[in-house]
Amino acid sequence: MANLDTLRYTKFPLNNGSVAIPALGFGTLIPDPVATRVATKAALEAGFRLLDTSERYRTENEVGEAMQEVFKEGKIKREDVVVVTKLWNNNHRPERVKPAFEASLKKLRLDFIDLYLIHTPFAFQPGEEQDPRDANGKVIYDKAATLLDTWRALEALVDEGKCKAIGLSDVSLEQVKGIVEAARIKPAVVHVESHPYLPEWELLNYCKSNGIVLQAFAALGHSSVPKLLDDPVITTIARRVNKTSAQVLLAWAIQRGTALLTTSKTPDRIKENFDVSAIPEDAMSEITEGITMRVRFNAVVETGIPGFIPRGK
Ligand SMILES: NC(=O)c1ccc[n+]([C@@H]2O[C@H](COP(=O)([O-])OP(=O)(O)OC[C@H]3O[C@@H](n4cnc5c(N)ncnc54)[C@H](OP(=O)(O)O)[C@@H]3O)[C@@H](O)[C@H]2O)c1
Repeated sequence: MANLDTLRYTKFPLNNGSVAIPALGFGTLIPDPVATRVATKAALEAGFRLLDTSERYRTENEVGEAMQEVFKEGKIKREDVVVVTKLWNNNHRPERVKPAFEASLKKLRLDFIDLYLIHTPFAFQPGEEQDPRDANGKVIYDKAATLLDTWRALEALVDEGKCKAIGLSDVSLEQVKGIVEAARIKPAVVHVESHPYLPEWELLNYCKSNGIVLQAFAALGHSSVPKLLDDPVITTIARRVNKTSAQVLLAWAIQRGTALLTTSKTPDRIKENFDVSAIPEDAMSEITEGITMRVRFNAVVETGIPGFIPRGK
């Protein structure tokens, strides 16, 4: 019998009316360029209609190539896909925002971007170096550009029409509130690490009551240790509902009202991750109430320096 469950097609309308973004998003933080191109194509073919990249990931070029190949085949059109990219920390000065955005557009081979995010709230020394360091190896921050200054430059991009919506990434609740209060164009999306070990309920509730979509990255826990995919609450539910652990985690994220990003280099897993359907309410509360461990896997939110936190095996 055909699967009539529509969870995988869930979309969240953005508060500026530009587009409704698919809950299930495919992230392209994949170090190898060939693997990025292959995985991006496989993701589109499996049904994903949101692609996430960033100037920092250095995958915009490969994502652009993969999209062009798929669009040329004629089954999927540009307007079917929500493309998200992000401004990196060395480009926070307002005068650097438009050139950085235009460079992303060019690499992605697009004439507009659906959603442009400030990748982190940390401004680094302006210049070509993405990771500027002093003689002691310490990151050089830039005190001359506030998050609001950078936000105003993103608002100007929306005015020019090449960017449909804007948002924030790796921010705290206080930082989101600051921008919401001061902005002319409110953030449409807040993109942060979130999964059952880091549910971010307070931020999610704030976003929901202010018409902002929370997009959860590392929805499967990034395969880091402790391994969320092996958590006994998740594996027990997965056996009971006849799904994989990944499918249970992705369903939990959508059913609690977040969009999400997941990534895989493996075509079979990419298909598995799109093949998501609803889990019962008792499974939802077992995850929400039964998992009490709290782990942040990615440290970027503390310093602006990207990277998952290495842990012992
Ligand atoms: N704003 C930020 O600072 C920030 C930071 C991190 C990530 N992100 C975004 O979020 C995206 C997702 O983050 P993430 O990579 O941490 O996602 P994730 O989906 O939580 O973790 C990806 C890992 O899970 C494995 N995996 C995927 N599907 C699986 C499955 N069905 N069964 C078992 N293992 C599976 C992958 O391995 P294989 O590849 O070997 O299949 C990979 O090692 C990134 O690509 C990026 O776009 C943003």
